[in-house]
Amino acid sequence: MENISSESISFWKEKSKKFVDELYSESLKEKAISLERPLVTLTYAQSLDGKIAGPDKKAIPISSEPSFIMTHYIRNSNHGILVGIGTILNENPRLSTRYTYSSTEANQPIPVVLDSQLRIPLASNILEQGRNPIIFCLDLGPGKSQSKKKQLEALGAQVYECPNIAGHVSIEYCLKVLFKCGIKSLMVEGGSQIIQAFIESIQENSSMVDLLIVTVAPCYIGASGTPLLAPANPASSNVLPNFTSSNYQVSYSQFGPDIVLATTIS
Ligand SMILES: NC(=O)c1ccc[n+]([C@@H]2O[C@H](COP(=O)([O-])OP(=O)(O)OC[C@H]3O[C@@H](n4cnc5c(N)ncnc54)[C@H](OP(=O)(O)O)[C@@H]3O)[C@@H](O)[C@H]2O)c1
Repeated sequence: MENISSESISFWKEKSKKFVDELYSESLKEKAISLERPLVTLTYAQSLDGKIAGPDKKAIPISSEPSFIMTHYIRNSNHGILVGIGTILNENPRLSTRYTYSSTEANQPIPVVLDSQLRIPLASNILEQGRNPIIFCLDLGPGKSQSKKKQLEALGAQVYECPNIAGHVSIEYCLKVLFKCGIKSLMVEGGSQIIQAFIESIQENSSMVDLLIVTVAPCYIGASGTPLLAPANPASSNVLPNFTSSNYQVSYSQFGPDIVLATTIS
């Protein structure tokens, strides 16, 4: 990612605030009051050929610094930020807000990880002091996993055991728990399996996405890159959403060379 001047950073921070604050419209805020789960914003960055990382899931820079500043403003605007364990193992992200957008300190969202088998390494960046992540796993039973749970709790994490849906934790259940923990807004950042699970929910009766924000960067990663979605299973009846109909209002804005597309899901 190219370094940009401090004047440019201020410009893109202002533009980020304007664009993102408009997306969190009054009607979306009203919707949030009636939900018994957090208001969910699904967001990710992709290349022109629909890839979200390099070969072997290696994290590579995709978006430009202006859209990075915008993404960090979304982090700043949410109580929690959720990723799957695959992203923790591949990237060891901090999931923090890197910029301040006003004279006050940046809001640091609470990291949330879906991790059925508690594979999260104890040295993960999100387990740094003060971050107090929330980790969802499956029923652990007695033994080794219970001691891992205790080690994670000693580092400040809250670990919840969840119902099993097809071998994974039930996302619906996790969202209800998060709401009870005071997380009223949640940014979902990836990786591909988690993005897919949330996108597929849009076509079901109970969508778990309220706002979709996608950064499209003008680059190709190539066939060996990590695709946004898994190859379609011919036996699956999952229909993916289509936002070209007039039921959806799609807005867009340019951040550096990238285009950011957004739509609310009613
Ligand atoms: N470009 C972007 O915006 C962006 C953002 C984030 C990540 N990424 C990239 O995404 C890649 C990682 O993607 P990934 O698919 O390997 O990992 P992922 O989506 O982060 O995590 C997938 C794992 O989450 C766990 N999981 C728990 N509950 C689940 C559920 N209900 N549904 C689905 N999964 C559930 C599963 O592991 P268990 O069964 O063990 O629980 C699953 O293997 C990395 O390359 C990373 O760099 C890109």
